[in-house]
Amino acid sequence: MNDRLKTIVDLEKYPIHNLNSQKIKDLIIRCKNELDHNSCATIPNFILPESLKTMNLELKKQLDEVYMSTQSINAYLYAKDDPTLSKDHPKRTFMSRYNGYLNSDCFKKDSEMKYLYETEELLKFISACLGVQPIFRWADPLACHAYNVMKPKGVLPWHFDSCEFTLSLMIQKPEKGGVFEYCPNIREPGNENFEEVKKVLNGDRKRVRQLVLEPGDLQIFKGRFTLHRVTKIEGQRSRYMCIPAYVLDPYRVNTPEHSKAIYGKVLPIHIERNKSRSDGLAD
Ligand SMILES: [Fe+2]
Repeated sequence: MNDRLKTIVDLEKYPIHNLNSQKIKDLIIRCKNELDHNSCATIPNFILPESLKTMNLELKKQLDEVYMSTQSINAYLYAKDDPTLSKDHPKRTFMSRYNGYLNSDCFKKDSEMKYLYETEELLKFISACLGVQPIFRWADPLACHAYNVMKPKGVLPWHFDSCEFTLSLMIQKPEKGGVFEYCPNIREPGNENFEEVKKVLNGDRKRVRQLVLEPGDLQIFKGRFTLHRVTKIEGQRSRYMCIPAYVLDPYRVNTPEHSKAIYGKVLPIHIERNKSRSDGLAD
């Protein structure tokens, strides 16, 4: 038994250290089912209240290091227009953004969140819930387990993630707004489904679902295949999340353009490993 893990995750309710326990087997079946149908599964009160306080505090101590991005962006996380495409192509829809990250390389060595992300127990549990093996921790040193900060009036427009799978841990909820909305399974490897993406960007709500998360809840999410956004933060309290990510390719990192636009800088690894995606999807 991992002594620190039991102070972070509610292992009595969710014994992720023992994948053979009946409780976890049942939970894995439920999550896999939700992920297959809705691209998304939630586990309530996954993080213990004391650990949640620690995470909240470690982020608050470093709020001045958060990189805020305000550049308008398309759903594929690009800021640059491509005039060779037709005028109504979804890649030419740019939406305003006001969103920040405490990059993973800013985390203290003994950070609660970093510790949780680096445990084998969490990796194996998430892999089982997804039914995908192997998955890897993201090699991107800025983005792999960043804290997401949305201040009052903050907004994160419709987009697809660069990494295949993300966890979202709610750390602090805003007074109002900041609702996570998503369109399950809207694209897949080899099929961008631009027509359906375009409809959502133009305001069609038919495919849109909302997810309510409370502090301490864990969401498992297939962010590369699911168009998603966070609505505007209303009221005075910021929304804090942690977004640990997992990938299929242990070599891949963000493109230099994404890294600059979203995390505020480019490291040598982003340049060395800049190559096109093997799944054929845009990002
Ligand atoms: Fe995302």
